[in-house]
Amino acid sequence: MKTRFIVNGDEVELDLEPRRLLVDVLREDLGLTGTHIGCDTTNCGACTVILNGKAVKSCTILGVQAHGSSILTIEGLSKEGELHPIQRAFLEKHGLQCGFCTPGMVMTTYWLLSQGKKLGEEDVKKGLSGNLCRCTGYQGIVDAVMYAQELMKGESS
Ligand code: FES
Ligand code: FES
Repeated sequence: MKTRFIVNGDEVELDLEPRRLLVDVLREDLGLTGTHIGCDTTNCGACTVILNGKAVKSCTILGVQAHGSSILTIEGLSKEGELHPIQRAFLEKHGLQCGFCTPGMVMTTYWLLSQGKKLGEEDVKKGLSGNLCRCTGYQGIVDAVMYAQELMKGESS
């Protein structure tokens, strides 16, 4: 099926088998391998991308369902070689170890912080509850999201 969507600001047109998952299309057809696959049960959140402004697990969506949509992946976050403030916060607050979960954590954080609400630690824990990490024990991730919130407030004021 002819499928067109925008990914990280670029329009793409693909001829897709209807059974293929969006995460596989992103990784295999478009080379966007920053979006990870950590499970096959919609559990881990490593495959999270932003689709039409919402965080979605791209292993739960067919590629053809993305027709007409706008997608942001981890590759689209940094601008002109500069890390996005969320990426900087994860780096500075030790929000990662092996890094496998990190793209999904960062994209879910992007969505959480795009809601325009001031988040407390409990909000962050709830917001990230669909993303699993086997390394960090989570506190570094929560600290990184809280710090990212501060950084982004500073940059928008
Ligand atoms: Fe999508 Fe785990 S790969 S939730
Ligand atoms: Fe290793 Fe999260 S940093 S899974």
